[in-house]
Amino acid sequence: TLAERLILGQVLAFEGDPRALGLAAARHEARGGVLVRDGLIRAVGDGAALRAAHPEARITDHGDALILPGFIDAHAHYPQTAIIASWGKRLIDWLNTYTFPEEARFGDTTYATDIADRYLDLVTANGTTTVASYCTIHPASVDAIFTAAQARGMRFLAGKTCMDRNAPGNLRDTAQSAFDDSSALLKNWHGRGRLGYIITPRFSPTSSPEQLSALGALWADHPDCLMQTHLSEQVDEIAWVRSLYPDARDYLDTYEAHGLLGEKGVYGHAIHLEPREIARLQEVGAALVHCPTSNTFIGSGLFDMGLADTMPVGLATDTGGGSSFSMLRTMAAAYEVGQLRGEALHPAELLWRATGGSAAALHLQDKIGRLAPGIEADLCVLDLASTPAIAQRQARAKTIWEAVFPTIMMGDDRAIAQTYIAGEPVKAV
Ligand code: GUN
Ligand code: FE
Repeated sequence: TLAERLILGQVLAFEGDPRALGLAAARHEARGGVLVRDGLIRAVGDGAALRAAHPEARITDHGDALILPGFIDAHAHYPQTAIIASWGKRLIDWLNTYTFPEEARFGDTTYATDIADRYLDLVTANGTTTVASYCTIHPASVDAIFTAAQARGMRFLAGKTCMDRNAPGNLRDTAQSAFDDSSALLKNWHGRGRLGYIITPRFSPTSSPEQLSALGALWADHPDCLMQTHLSEQVDEIAWVRSLYPDARDYLDTYEAHGLLGEKGVYGHAIHLEPREIARLQEVGAALVHCPTSNTFIGSGLFDMGLADTMPVGLATDTGGGSSFSMLRTMAAAYEVGQLRGEALHPAELLWRATGGSAAALHLQDKIGRLAPGIEADLCVLDLASTPAIAQRQARAKTIWEAVFPTIMMGDDRAIAQTYIAGEPVKAV
């Protein structure tokens, strides 16, 4: 039909996690294509065969560029867009010095809308089509990002960041208002088009036990919702949690004791975990999110990707504690952190973490993150020779993995030839 679009290029399609399934999980078509109709992928395969089978499809030929699923950033703070790359602080000082003053501005709808649009321009220019974003305590900050994401047709997850202590007065809610505001936002936005609400206590130090319990009760009322928070990011933070919650067995227990541990829980950072915490997270089937540029930038530590053998693990920028909006840069940092821990992550795993791996961590694996019929047509097309330095290295490649790795390590937004959201190109063609 006229509404079909055939996107041609190299294609890399993963059936599942190459860490578990090996490289057999990946199919490469040097002259491939993705057929799209009504916002969904309908077929993936040989370009010439798809062309013959769909002669009336509108064709966009990306040549040797590589078609991938759009990148999925499993943990970010869109309100920190304007304070990314703030110098010289570790986690708690960084929050107090840079983050909280900026987040205090998001009660102003005009400002929140301006940053939301700027943020979505930046991420889509970097090939990212879905984000799980924290907002601020202000309901207006949630309305702003959902409104902007909806206008672009993006699949997007966001939630009001709840804090009722250890934050400035103008950035504190209460246990009751956090429950009421989150509940109202959830009812207004969750499941509306491609949007999903995530219940979002910031982290244990900025919530009273009463607030954590209130949000645990909200989650129990809405078990189809995700819950996101931070866990065991920095050693000083963990010591602080221990003093704030003297009865807790460990950091994870502060969440568990208040109804905030579950299969649909998404725990960011998770660097300094105790054996009991790992066992418990595995038992409930919770997901972790690796934020490598943040963990090096804020000085937090080195995430153990070996945890992905037994748990869903997504990949994320953690903008603006992370130092980039780019999932390419984030994959490069994941590779570097792996090397520092003695594990060289294969390009297949890096690409999977940024797409299907993040989708699985966010329970969206049936909707996004893979090139397969029925999956939503959010795509990222990578120019594998976007700069002279990358082009000369890529020219020597003998396999698709050698061809894509220089772009993973050295690529930036110049490598994003196109981003498609629900089958529609973001950049003018
Ligand atoms: N822990 C609690 N809040 C934050 C945040 O905004 N960024 C990071 N990186 N860690 C946090
Ligand atoms: Fe974060």
